[in-house]
Amino acid sequence: MNVIVVKDYQEMSQEGGQFLYNQIKENPNITLGLATGGTPIGVYQELIKRHKKNPLQLSDITTFNLDEYIGLSPVSPNSYHYYMKQHLFGPLRISSEQAYLPNGTATNPEEECNRYERLIKEKGGIDVQVLGVGSNGHIGFNEPTTPFCSRTQVVELVKSTIEANARYFDSIEEVPRRAISMGIQTIMEAREIILFANGESKAEAMYQLLANTKVTENWPVTILKKHPKVTVIIDEAASHKILNLLYNYNKEYEEGQYLYSR
Ligand code: F6R
Repeated sequence: MNVIVVKDYQEMSQEGGQFLYNQIKENPNITLGLATGGTPIGVYQELIKRHKKNPLQLSDITTFNLDEYIGLSPVSPNSYHYYMKQHLFGPLRISSEQAYLPNGTATNPEEECNRYERLIKEKGGIDVQVLGVGSNGHIGFNEPTTPFCSRTQVVELVKSTIEANARYFDSIEEVPRRAISMGIQTIMEAREIILFANGESKAEAMYQLLANTKVTENWPVTILKKHPKVTVIIDEAASHKILNLLYNYNKEYEEGQYLYSR
């Protein structure tokens, strides 16, 4: 695992934007797994900036989003379809034929989950998966105690996630209680993963991932310790509980893992 500690949200976004830019440049047929939420907005802006300066070939990339709320139509301003159009697909002119999200208005959500899983397989799987993390350690909308073997499924959001996401809605009552989310196993099958975390609210989750040796379904993010190719980009606030560890292990850390700060 590569861990890059940066000063703040802006630096995290710049590192992340450059990382994604390089990935697409190296492989114009790349399949990206994408996240929503507050964390990757800056990363997407930095990618767009770089693309505007030195255009990438984007016509052959494919994207799959992690999740979508159940009950929100793609044109609802709080849907993740809308978010992606606004923050990435619109500015990069990525067409809806290349960009997949679960359909939150499917009449049979379980069937929609199976269709989404099949589609990911048909397209050859995900090359690079972008992740944020919940303060409770969720990845995608896989809340604590979700089985590690889970695949794309209908999930119930927990109270803390509903409260955290209420900031985007007019009132907390409007936040959907259910979503379709890629499962943990689906995420783990990505060939490479990049996780972003900023702010103090993510510090405990980062402690569980980077300092605690346990891999536990109570902290879904800890499964990433078992993935062969993960980069974690975190800011100082998100890493404040592990700074001592980062300084102590400034070079090699466990087998094949590196932690470094700059
Ligand atoms: C978003 C997603 C979630 C978020 C997480 C953090 O597609 O799957 O796991 O990454 O809830 O959200 P923010 O970035 O808003 O703190």
